[in-house]
Amino acid sequence: MPPSRLAVLGGTGQQGRGLAQRFARAGFPVIVGSRAPDRAAALVAGWPDGARPIATADYGAAIERATVVVLAVPFESVGRLLDDRRQQFRADALVVDVTVPVTFGQGGPALAEVPEGSAAQHIRARLPAHARLAATFKTVPAHLLGDIERPLDCDEFVCGDSAEARTEAAALVQAIAGLRPIDVGPLARARAIEHVTLLAIAINRRHRIADARFKVIGL
Ligand SMILES: NC(=O)c1ccc[n+]([C@@H]2O[C@H](COP(=O)([O-])OP(=O)(O)OC[C@H]3O[C@@H](n4cnc5c(N)ncnc54)[C@H](OP(=O)(O)O)[C@@H]3O)[C@@H](O)[C@H]2O)c1
Repeated sequence: MPPSRLAVLGGTGQQGRGLAQRFARAGFPVIVGSRAPDRAAALVAGWPDGARPIATADYGAAIERATVVVLAVPFESVGRLLDDRRQQFRADALVVDVTVPVTFGQGGPALAEVPEGSAAQHIRARLPAHARLAATFKTVPAHLLGDIERPLDCDEFVCGDSAEARTEAAALVQAIAGLRPIDVGPLARARAIEHVTLLAIAINRRHRIADARFKVIGL
């Protein structure tokens, strides 16, 4: 089966760029979704050979064209984005939530309270019922992801609203060289994953590094 057509919304950003480039390298037809597709087209023209998307598009057009939609936009903007475009998801869409509701206040980085429990559950509440949702790529650091010649060599946690969504998302994680998917169960586990990202940020700051990441021992 040919690889899914995969849209990365926010593919011009730190996390989205690394994902878009690495998926393109893995052979996926990638669409970079952007609020400003022309500006995004100029940007991706400078990406390395073999890591460029097949197209850039506005968020609505990217959602309509993709069987996998990766949400790599700031958490604060994702609710509005979905409220405006929920009708545009294809019947077979798998949505992949990458967002982490981190705030950087005076007391240092923290997780914002989310009424639904986690960013992923906030997104679930705004997606059409037919769209399947998984959360992953929340802990792999953008700094490393975006340096596509460097191996990742770490695990990536996957949770989802069905076994099918988790299996499909795990296959996407596996498709990126050096990443191993770890299925952690239902979507409600997303908050725990988001806390792990916060921990990575804290480790980075304390130890003055930029690419703290995780491996599960014993699996
Ligand atoms: N940075 C990390 O290490 C990391 C790690 C794990 C998860 N994440 C998550 O990944 C997501 C993106 O983070 P990032 O660091 O890549 O952010 P970023 O560099 O600011 O990029 C996000 C992209 O989203 C789009 N965007 C920005 N503001 C928006 C708005 N108000 N409405 C709609 N789209 C907007 C922009 O693309 P256009 O201007 O082209 O539309 C931007 O390039 C966040 O939810 C973050 O929590 C980040």
